[in-house]
Amino acid sequence: MHAITVRPTEKVDAKGRHRPGPENIEWAEVETPEPGPGEALVKVAAAGMNRADLLQRQGLYPPPAGVSEIMGFEVVGTVAALGPEVTGWAQGDQVVALLAGGGYAEYAVVPAGQLLHMPPGVDPVVASTLVEVAATVISNMDHVGLTGGETFLVHGGAGGVGQFAIQYAKGLGCTVLTTCGTDAKREFCRGLGADVALDYHEDWVAGVKEATGGRGADVILDVMGAKYLGLNVNSLATGGRLVIIGMQGGSRGELNIGKLLAKRALVTATSLRFRPLEEKAGDLPSGRGAGLADVRGRPDHSGPGGDLPDHRGGRGPRPAGVRRGARQDRAHLLRAL
Ligand SMILES: NC(=O)c1ccc[n+]([C@@H]2O[C@H](COP(=O)([O-])OP(=O)(O)OC[C@H]3O[C@@H](n4cnc5c(N)ncnc54)[C@H](OP(=O)(O)O)[C@@H]3O)[C@@H](O)[C@H]2O)c1
Repeated sequence: MHAITVRPTEKVDAKGRHRPGPENIEWAEVETPEPGPGEALVKVAAAGMNRADLLQRQGLYPPPAGVSEIMGFEVVGTVAALGPEVTGWAQGDQVVALLAGGGYAEYAVVPAGQLLHMPPGVDPVVASTLVEVAATVISNMDHVGLTGGETFLVHGGAGGVGQFAIQYAKGLGCTVLTTCGTDAKREFCRGLGADVALDYHEDWVAGVKEATGGRGADVILDVMGAKYLGLNVNSLATGGRLVIIGMQGGSRGELNIGKLLAKRALVTATSLRFRPLEEKAGDLPSGRGAGLADVRGRPDHSGPGGDLPDHRGGRGPRPAGVRRGARQDRAHLLRAL
């Protein structure tokens, strides 16, 4: 089969680490994987692209032991073969799959518990962008018990996780605050349902305080890590919960425990990729009785034949035969309400 692979590079970052760029990816011939016990082989029709794939390409987010070195956390496609001990699935089933890796390929092996039936009437390219963000947001909000009526802040509302989080929290009946880097993205997030969209270049902590009458947010979903640790704790309400899922702002921060004590607040961090299989299966929206709804996403103009954006917005070549999972206007997103 063919897959997107990453050629080694001589390029190094400030710490001397080799960081392959988009120019290092290629459409190469690799061995077709075989499904083991409890696994399905899926013929991939479309693969979603997440920030974590871009980190993996740069060598900054290696897969867990035993998982394919190929990028790709989510695909849609057709079940091509089943390993032993798989029940409830048949060859030819149209599926959406959550992976720990291996999706940027013609075939991917998926633990059967991480398959969902492809919802009827949904564009496969759109469907390929949903399951990773849905499982991330829903599992983390369950973890900290987000409920209707609470105030929820998500950083980076215009990103993949952010877009889903805004719509999910709004659907739960929360007041939704978000942060963004540009006015256009703030406007876009308000269009998705955010009550308040703050510019993260400004004093967003003051913005949160103002929007909540000084109370702060009950739940914060953070993609920045160290850089925002203290600011996030300052922005929490009494009894508030901070969930960290990204480290775009570094991994080592300083925490004023006195503030946590005074607020009786919780700080937690999780990773979807490294969870055990049975937990992951429970995190799938289907495991929660999820349905489908029409909600909006960011228009994405990189259709087939376009370019794969770099993590800083740069552009690199797209190998033939690979379609980027687009976040399209009026896309169908998984709804877990
Ligand atoms: N732990 C897990 O299980 C898990 C699962 C999925 C994703 N993640 C992590 O979650 C993060 C988001 O993933 P994604 O796929 O949604 O990436 P993405 O689409 O590239 O979004 C990144 C977001 O970060 C925002 N951002 C950048 N600098 C910021 C700042 N200073 N303040 C606030 N927001 C800022 C961006 O906002 P602008 O575009 O407005 O600049 C953008 O919305 C990544 O770090 C990813 O690794 C973790």
